[in-house]
Amino acid sequence: LPLDCPVSIFSFPAGEKQKSLSTILELFTSLVQANFDRKSLIIAFGGGVVGDMGGFLASIFLRGVPFIQVPTSLLAMVDSSIGGKTGVDTTDGKNLMGSFYQPRTVIIDMDFLSTLPRIEFLNGMAEIIKHALIQDPLYFEFIKDNREKILALDSETILQLVEMSCMIKTSIVEKDEKENGLRQTLNFGHTTAHAIENASNYSVPHGFAVALGMIIEAHISFRRKLLSENELKEIVELISLYELTQYKNQLKKLSPQSLIDSAKKDKKNIKEAIKSVLLEKIGKTYSQGNSFSWQVQEEEIEAGLVYLLNAL
Ligand SMILES: NC(=O)c1ccc[n+]([C@@H]2O[C@H](COP(=O)([O-])OP(=O)(O)OC[C@H]3O[C@@H](n4cnc5c(N)ncnc54)[C@H](O)[C@@H]3O)[C@@H](O)[C@H]2O)c1
Repeated sequence: LPLDCPVSIFSFPAGEKQKSLSTILELFTSLVQANFDRKSLIIAFGGGVVGDMGGFLASIFLRGVPFIQVPTSLLAMVDSSIGGKTGVDTTDGKNLMGSFYQPRTVIIDMDFLSTLPRIEFLNGMAEIIKHALIQDPLYFEFIKDNREKILALDSETILQLVEMSCMIKTSIVEKDEKENGLRQTLNFGHTTAHAIENASNYSVPHGFAVALGMIIEAHISFRRKLLSENELKEIVELISLYELTQYKNQLKKLSPQSLIDSAKKDKKNIKEAIKSVLLEKIGKTYSQGNSFSWQVQEEEIEAGLVYLLNAL
């Protein structure tokens, strides 16, 4: 680092399991021992786990010190480093403890992607496809037309991808930082994704669960006559093109009821009513005024699951 000041490096083992209050306490103690003060800067250098925890630590250390995000996974570049959501998991669930705390800046270097395992790359692709589905039909076409280049990590194409997704996420968060309305659209696919993760005991990685969740929620949109059948098929095709349906066997093992029971526990629900974001067409969510999230019935989830298993 070209900085004319002391730098301390703190690290911890990789993985979602580390995203806990006990890791935060260890890091906190390290900061105190290294004499960090109010003028110190925290740089969160890593994937989404590091970003969420680095931001949370910065938000509570001495009631808040500045921090910078340097995301190194695709998901962190296009999603978790933007928007100021920070936090940790607790034994009761994911991301239940946290704060909104914006980084001073986000620095993205594409070269990090060269060492990222393919499975992690695909994890990020699910959120990128989501960005296209909720906001931009041309972006959807771009992702479809450039599959070969994207999966071959063509640097020019990946740069365009990251830029487009960062712009979409930033534009949404700028309009609704605290998720009172528009920001909810970023949860498209996530209600059922969280249910799939939970019911499968987290054996389906997040991005893959989001991909399957997006198909179920697109199917619900289709059944409500919001989305056309052709568009539903296009969505399934694109998600399959990016190898994001490879965990369907885990899904086959789940009973619809276990999925519904898990969906009822989602932290975004109010009084156990299951809510999700629906699509009006590719590139546009269904909204009315400031309402972007809709109550869905158990049988709609069940039908979505049946469709998904038949379609793949
Ligand atoms: N704050 C938000 O708005 C937001 C949004 C989405 C997800 N998240 C959170 O992000 C986390 C998931 O992030 P993630 O998918 O980056 O997971 P992660 O941070 O666990 O990283 C995935 C794996 O890739 C490794 N890795 C990261 N960069 C690498 C690189 N350049 N080369 C080689 N290996 C690399 C990590 O060490 C880890 O093993 C979850 O905790 C999720 O809750 C937060």
